[in-house]
Amino acid sequence: MIAVFGSLLSVPRETAKPGAHEPVMLTEVLEYLDPQPGDTVVDGTIGLAGHATALAERVGSKGTLVGFDWDAAMLERARERMVGAPLNALHLVRDDYRSIPARLAELGLAADGILLDLGLNSAQIDDPGRGLSFLQDGPLDMRMNRDDREPAAALLNRLTAAQIEDALREYGDERWARAIAKQIVERRRSAPLRTTNDLVECVLAAIPPRAREKRIHPATRTFQAIRILTNRELEDLEGAITAIAETLTPGGRLVVLAYHSGEDREVKHAFKALSEHGFQVLTPKPVGPTPEEIFTNPRSRSAKLRAIRRETTTPEGRSSWRQSQ
Ligand SMILES: C[S@@+](CC[C@H](N)C(=O)[O-])C[C@H]1O[C@@H](n2cnc3c(N)ncnc32)[C@H](O)[C@@H]1O
Repeated sequence: MIAVFGSLLSVPRETAKPGAHEPVMLTEVLEYLDPQPGDTVVDGTIGLAGHATALAERVGSKGTLVGFDWDAAMLERARERMVGAPLNALHLVRDDYRSIPARLAELGLAADGILLDLGLNSAQIDDPGRGLSFLQDGPLDMRMNRDDREPAAALLNRLTAAQIEDALREYGDERWARAIAKQIVERRRSAPLRTTNDLVECVLAAIPPRAREKRIHPATRTFQAIRILTNRELEDLEGAITAIAETLTPGGRLVVLAYHSGEDREVKHAFKALSEHGFQVLTPKPVGPTPEEIFTNPRSRSAKLRAIRRETTTPEGRSSWRQSQ
């Protein structure tokens, strides 16, 4: 069975499409998630389905995979890639991963493994129409879900300088937060910000050339921060992770890949609290990619993997719990 929620869709099974997309830390994700044949696994951020394809192979023809993405375009790409997956059931849900507990309950499923690979993927960055890239001019939008929320330009034309500064500092660790916020507010007095180039120009005007980092584009941190702000990516992330972990079967595992300190902090706090309530943290310290992976896939360089496992309440472990449901 293959179902796409939002627009419920049946699609024919066909051969999975090959893709050049490199899922980050795939070996480590599989090691910590440890999916078994027949398991129900949830990919809360399915994206281009790199991890999901490997998970589907592991759980096999008796297994179930539920994939979430709040971006309709990504979910469609995932569907194209997953239609031939050798699964008993595939459910694709267009929604925030925060709704995993509610959506699993609707489906009558409990998860043996859940993956959250936070942030965004290269296909989203490379599309200039989304306004996520400082290298290509485009509308300053940045929304992953275009059905709701304000585009980034509307936010930057509305918020106070102090609010913009706070976001740049908190979500981007940007040392020049005050100067950039001041530039944005000054610039919008003559004309509202509309494009990614408008924002890049504010950053370049705020950071003196001698103070710019050589390793990354000066607008990197600003674009990350404004994207997180626009999509409210960190809003109650700790609470969401706790609720998601609680949908696991005994023995079930949750693996989270975070890409910046704000995200990783929320994951760490959630896992610490869970460790006092029937969960075992499998990664006392976050695990990073190998130097080889960073070399072949530079996007992986900032990844931090954390994993947690729900204690078993029966000696037989997770499968006997599932049968008793
Ligand atoms: C880093 S990519 C995932 C890549 C994926 N693991 C793969 O192998 O192709 C993150 C994906 O999660 C989605 N996403 C980010 N935050 C989300 C949220 N709160 N709810 C649902 N999807 C989200 C993004 O739209 C993006 O497609």
